[in-house]
Amino acid sequence: MALDPLANKQQAWSALFSEPMSELVQRYTASVGFDRRLAQADIEGSLAHARMLHAQAILSDDDLAAIERGMAQIRAEIAAGSFAWKLELEDVHLNVEARLTALVGDAGKRLHTGRSRNDQVATDVRLWLRGEVDRIALLLAGLQSALVELAAGHAETVMPGFTHLQVAQPVSFAHHLLAYVEMFARDAERLADLRRRVNRLPLGAAALAGTSFPLDREHVARALGFEALCENSLDAVSDRDFALEFSAFAGICMVHVSRLAEEIVLWMSQNFGFIDLADRYCTGSSIMPQKRNPDVAELARGKSGRVIGHLMGLLVLMKGQPLAYNKDNQEDKEPLFDTVDTVADTLRILAEMVSGIVVKPEAMERAARRGYATATDLADYLARKGVPFRDAHEAVAHAVKVALGRGVDLAELSLAELQALHPRVEADVAEVLTLAGSMKARALVGGTAPAQVQRQVERHRARLAQGVGGGALQPAADS
Ligand code: ARG
Repeated sequence: MALDPLANKQQAWSALFSEPMSELVQRYTASVGFDRRLAQADIEGSLAHARMLHAQAILSDDDLAAIERGMAQIRAEIAAGSFAWKLELEDVHLNVEARLTALVGDAGKRLHTGRSRNDQVATDVRLWLRGEVDRIALLLAGLQSALVELAAGHAETVMPGFTHLQVAQPVSFAHHLLAYVEMFARDAERLADLRRRVNRLPLGAAALAGTSFPLDREHVARALGFEALCENSLDAVSDRDFALEFSAFAGICMVHVSRLAEEIVLWMSQNFGFIDLADRYCTGSSIMPQKRNPDVAELARGKSGRVIGHLMGLLVLMKGQPLAYNKDNQEDKEPLFDTVDTVADTLRILAEMVSGIVVKPEAMERAARRGYATATDLADYLARKGVPFRDAHEAVAHAVKVALGRGVDLAELSLAELQALHPRVEADVAEVLTLAGSMKARALVGGTAPAQVQRQVERHRARLAQGVGGGALQPAADS
């Protein structure tokens, strides 16, 4: 009977070893506890490798048939939860291979011809990540759609625009929301761009130097949907910059998320009162009966921390590693998995929460009135009448001072009062001092005028319907 090297992993390299691995070292070095998540990608990659070996006459008809049969059963076992994962078999690759060999004998042992776990794991991670990139692209499009659809009804809803969190100028609520759509659209672009670099095939690099078997790498790439080969075997097995790029995307995207989440928290607070959130996104307090806390938004803001932390962790993991593969690379998986899970869940929940936002236009307008948001409009008005802008600015500062002293808005000052502050003020100033007039005046591309904002809504709708910048309109179903 042929020896089964993987019955006990120690025997996979047994001849050289004089003592077994300690239980602690086994636990310390094993990755099967988390990398089993790559099982479907691992099997897919192995099948493509086996079919290519067969096409190259390296594997017989019978061996290929046996491998396909065994892998189908392993897939079913994993799906059913009956697959017996073994810590002593270290990782997902050795677990699957050992089970294959147990099921189909020598054919299972021939699968690894011309391959190493080094090019295997790099292939698995890329395949898996590509699928997640596509799922996240859909979720990102879903969040954009939720924001665009909320914006669509609020091109004329005035709110204070802020700088330094001080009331600055009136903007529409839609305009404010569409700022986030722009951010997430760029995130989607980044994601689409990095996908091309994730989608390259390491298999064929073997351990580090390539292989002496006549493998057909293009065949495997085509079968797995990779758009290019990794062209240097040392680089193929060792770099994880595709994971770094994804994590950088994720970090930036979560920074955008955290800003939106922060505004939702502010807007919902009693001091703003601009919006309300559905109860299902809030929690109460165990001591203060009156509390409704925006926990989901706060967590979305907080979870940006772990994603950014994972990016730092991965950068440091890769820094200074000599070529080629090092076991350090096994540490790429948990941060990457957690990044994917965190970003995906956050995008989904935020899209749902945004769709359920109840807008309170009166509160927004009240806040815009309180802050002399049309002061710039008055200065612009005087400048249009020939007053040098710096002088106009000064005159309006006086007007604000007068209004503040009386506790009224600029629009509530009489024409005579305004004219006392600057003789160039005429009766047509009234329109300029309204919030709606201020917004309407900013009609250039990118401005807050309702007509302009409505055009932006349509542009985003068309873009999202086409799948540009992140795919279809609907977020992916629960996975
Ligand atoms: N579990 C390993 C990883 O995630 C697979 C590659 C192991 N290769 C090796 N030469 N020990 O990186």
